[in-house]
Amino acid sequence: MSGNPRSVIMSPSILAADFSQLGNQVRAVSNADWIHVDVMDGHFVPNLSFGADITHAVSQVTELPLDVHLMIESPEKWVDHYVKAGASCIIFHVEATDDPVALARTIRAAGVRAGFSLRPGTPIEPFLPTLDEFDLVLVMSVEPGFGGQSFMPDQLEKVRLLRAEIDARGLNTLIEIDGGISTATIAQAAQAGCDAFVAGSAVFGQPDPAAAVDELRALATSAHTAI
Ligand code: DX5
Ligand code: ZN
Repeated sequence: MSGNPRSVIMSPSILAADFSQLGNQVRAVSNADWIHVDVMDGHFVPNLSFGADITHAVSQVTELPLDVHLMIESPEKWVDHYVKAGASCIIFHVEATDDPVALARTIRAAGVRAGFSLRPGTPIEPFLPTLDEFDLVLVMSVEPGFGGQSFMPDQLEKVRLLRAEIDARGLNTLIEIDGGISTATIAQAAQAGCDAFVAGSAVFGQPDPAAAVDELRALATSAHTAI
């Protein structure tokens, strides 16, 4: 048992919210830590969600930091839009850019935290030496594009590699996991070393989204404490 477990960051994904009630849905999870905003362009992923205008609208109804996950081609063209829209962290996909470190530096220079994400089939090893350039790594535990998919436990190996590298080098880079996080899966993700947890359907698909956030947080906290 550790006396000082890592704190758990809960980031509900509004992709699973009732868009006709978006403001109320965001306000309903004010007990969360961040709000996860899934931006999809219909090209990098087959689905289309929403863009900078909706992101800005969300920023107007919450004090929580916006965790913006760009599942788009040419993310470098859109960074300014999401900075202006009120993003606190901008996460792009390494498959969508030739120079992740340069893009992270651009994002950080704009005063916003920088993160990268990777598809389940993309190995993490080539990116381990550059972790100091990033505030966050978002490990996808489903194929990006849709909510409500099943958790891929094999992706936890990436989390373990990241945890070992970050701890060995004393970095502050956070590990976030995204896809299929629920009461059935969050503990194993926390045990593998995740700090932050995205949950869409497991929060907004529940009758009481705030209670769902609390329940997920408690499960992750217990798993951290048991490490
Ligand atoms: C998938 C998105 C996820 C999605 C998660 O491409 O990046 O953030 O909203 O949804 P659930 O939690 O339902 O798997
Ligand atoms: Zn996401």
